[in-house]
Amino acid sequence: MAITEEFKQELKARTDIADVISSYVQLKKAGRNLVGLCPFHNEKSPSFSVSRENGFFHCFGCGAGGDAITFIRKIENLDYADAVKLLADRAGMTIPEDAASDGMGHLKTRIYEANREAARFYHRQLYTPDGKQALEYLRNRALTEKTIIHFGLGYSPRDRFELVNHLKSKGFSNNEIIQANLANQSKRGFPFDRFSDRVMFPIIDLRGNVIAFGGRIMSDIKPKYLNTSDTPVFNKSRSLFALQFAKNKANGQLILVEGYMDVIALHQAGFENAVATLGTSLTSEQAKIIKRYCDEVVICYDADEAGQKATQRAIGILRPTGIKIRILTVPNGKDPDEFIKSYGDQGSARFRMLLEKSGNDTEYRLGKLRMRYNTDISEQKVEFLTKASAMISELENPVEQDVYISKLSHDLEVEKNAIKRLVEKNSRRSYREYKKAEQRQVQAEMSGLNDRLNKEKHFNLRAANAEEAIISLMIYNPDTAIEIAGHLPPETFVTGFNRRIYEVLKKRVENGQEITPSDISDEFSEDEMGRITKMLLSHPRENNPQAASQEYIEVLKEQSQRLTPEQAASADNDTIMEQLRRMKEKKK
Ligand code: CTP
Ligand code: MN
Repeated sequence: MAITEEFKQELKARTDIADVISSYVQLKKAGRNLVGLCPFHNEKSPSFSVSRENGFFHCFGCGAGGDAITFIRKIENLDYADAVKLLADRAGMTIPEDAASDGMGHLKTRIYEANREAARFYHRQLYTPDGKQALEYLRNRALTEKTIIHFGLGYSPRDRFELVNHLKSKGFSNNEIIQANLANQSKRGFPFDRFSDRVMFPIIDLRGNVIAFGGRIMSDIKPKYLNTSDTPVFNKSRSLFALQFAKNKANGQLILVEGYMDVIALHQAGFENAVATLGTSLTSEQAKIIKRYCDEVVICYDADEAGQKATQRAIGILRPTGIKIRILTVPNGKDPDEFIKSYGDQGSARFRMLLEKSGNDTEYRLGKLRMRYNTDISEQKVEFLTKASAMISELENPVEQDVYISKLSHDLEVEKNAIKRLVEKNSRRSYREYKKAEQRQVQAEMSGLNDRLNKEKHFNLRAANAEEAIISLMIYNPDTAIEIAGHLPPETFVTGFNRRIYEVLKKRVENGQEITPSDISDEFSEDEMGRITKMLLSHPRENNPQAASQEYIEVLKEQSQRLTPEQAASADNDTIMEQLRRMKEKKK
């Protein structure tokens, strides 16, 4: 998509970052800024701040930051172009459509189009003689006509050239069809349909684009499911099946199940907040996405051993997000789809009962733990209590802690205070460990050691500081920026990352363009934007920008003339003498 400078300026003028962020985060006024709880990491006291006047946000806790576009990219999990589109929609602007010009952007657009056409094609097949068997299969699995249409289910014909030929007749190239992973490439280079004789489940992103397919075979042949491999528009570890529906029905809670059919059966039964991963175990990226749409997840995996292991893993991935977790176990080894179907008309009500009595994960984990011990034997009882109190000490909510302490005390007939002391002992230890880890982190960051983005910073702290001050100064003071750009060559910058930022700023001011965070956010990744907003907050506006800029430029010039250790080792005599002379001069 070609976003013109003009378009960007208009969008910037019409977008109030505080308004945008307010639809996701509750913001309170604090001095010149607004603050709230960061949506990108789990926190209890607000370290997320938004500057309306400067058009950026920054979180001191996790380092996320940037303009409104960066915020939307992160929170909606969109790429730059789609985030612009979302904000433009919101501001009542339309993006000129010729726009699909740059290479990757163009290919992506074509893949979306090919996928959409393929989805339509597969769906139509259900109502042809070839697809009759597939339609019957779906009906046998108790899906209604409405559900089949709602999910856009389909059938991929047996003949391996039907989709390819159809797409070609619609003007798609071999390359586009192969890149979309709708076809595989034969040894001789021609494409043939990836999916053959399968029931097709389109996978749709939050913007309504068809991004991939899952295809189920109707017999016992393996693999049971075939899925689209990752493509330029599809990354299976970042997508969730049916989230496009579920996110609007979540109401604070999502149900996480294993299979496509489970999701569809649940939606049909009225549980439209169900989602599934796409043939992999839950990833932390998916956990973060889930966190954006609810504060409670009900994990409802198969009751078999594999399903239980997956449950434990999912808990481990979800816990760090701070989300509430409940575990629903479907009785008799059934999956949710089979369970609902087996009760016919009663399915929905029966599942609702399971949902209501599903315990939270602490209960689940304590139950699991207890099964490993025979608590009639004192020694084992002590051992169980020690482990259990460690588990309880991890809970952050003291009321919740108390609930489980009371429960244990009652169940095991042990004095409540004794268990409480065990928990407190554990808490103190884990608090100390936590504090230590936090300190290490801060130290590493202060010394620049942890700085992935600017690796040279650690060895050039003074220079990097001056560079960052200059960058902030420029962004805050367009007039001074023009002056600086006029006589400070980029080579003076010692660290590569900061030099790159400076080059972007310099080029823009020389073209008479603005350089607020929203003007430059298309040149930088989300992490890089976070770094830039951090600079802005650690070097606030100067009262006398011109004088300040002189000082920083001095420092930078002096620092950039320093020899690196490698240079010093291989320098000739003249260079070293020159360096010594300069140092003496400075001392005077
Ligand atoms: N899956 C997959 N590839 C396979 C098997 C499974 O990608 N070969 C994924 C699919 O997303 C599937 C999920 O894992 O939906 C759960 O698998 P399973 O429980 O075996 O299938 P169900 O969804 O229950 O499908 P069905 O009820 O049709 O057997
Ligand atoms: Mn199933």
